[in-house]
Amino acid sequence: MRIFNQINDLQSVLQAERKRTRSIGFVPTMGALHEGHLELMRRAKAENELLVASVFVNPIQFNNSIDLEKYPRNLQDDIRLLESVACDVLFNPSVEEMYPEPVTTQYSFGSLEEVMEGAFRPGHFNGVAVVVHKLFEIVQPDKAYFGEKDFQQLAIIRELVRQYSLPVDIVACPTIREADGLAMSSRNQRLLPAERVIAPKIYQILKKGASLRNVLSPKEMRIWVRTQLEKIDGCMIDYVEVADDIELQPIEHWNQSTGARLFVALFLGQVRLIDNIRIF
Ligand code: PAF
Repeated sequence: MRIFNQINDLQSVLQAERKRTRSIGFVPTMGALHEGHLELMRRAKAENELLVASVFVNPIQFNNSIDLEKYPRNLQDDIRLLESVACDVLFNPSVEEMYPEPVTTQYSFGSLEEVMEGAFRPGHFNGVAVVVHKLFEIVQPDKAYFGEKDFQQLAIIRELVRQYSLPVDIVACPTIREADGLAMSSRNQRLLPAERVIAPKIYQILKKGASLRNVLSPKEMRIWVRTQLEKIDGCMIDYVEVADDIELQPIEHWNQSTGARLFVALFLGQVRLIDNIRIF
């Protein structure tokens, strides 16, 4: 695997590669890689001739300085894992390399950024859009791979690609879970042992909640899920939402949309976790 820290070096190598390869698959990450990332890498590797990954903890998408400071970083482990899935190229820039000047770009994603993560983490999606747009311009991938655990991020990135007519296919990949159901996340590393033991309850409650679709209205489902989550020790809920699966707007009737998902964000102790599940 070739590793680049400088944009120019990466671009000259990719320019030459583009003449030789039929397609470049790209998986942007913030490192602290886990099986969820590796599944994205495997799929990207299988569907493209060249696999490019990036590891960059993007400071401008953190709306909480403690979260940024505590974000797990272990580049040597990441390199080992990337090599285990035969990643061809790793881009691992510094903050100065990515943002030599203060970032002032403002994107507008309308109602998509006003709900859930957008409402609870002001500026987060703007920061995601800035870095993803810049990475797409640097790497110019044919396909880019994102996990459905960050379902709203996926919708924002699709909208970014649509608004700027970016020539990249966005590939959505299912959430990868631990054997006990906990959605894989780099932040899981920060859970205390006792929190890790109870964390799978989140998915159990989501699954049960979604299965009650025939007996509960969307509003009742939100209330049922919230009530169950509140019983988990040390759980502080940011939101429980039932929304359509395209615009991600809250729904009040099941016949309001062709697809719906149940979303949660909560703190377990100090660690903020998100998860979501398809209702129909
Ligand atoms: O999902 C993530 O890890 C990040 O939000 C991303 C897409 C790599 C942008 O920093």
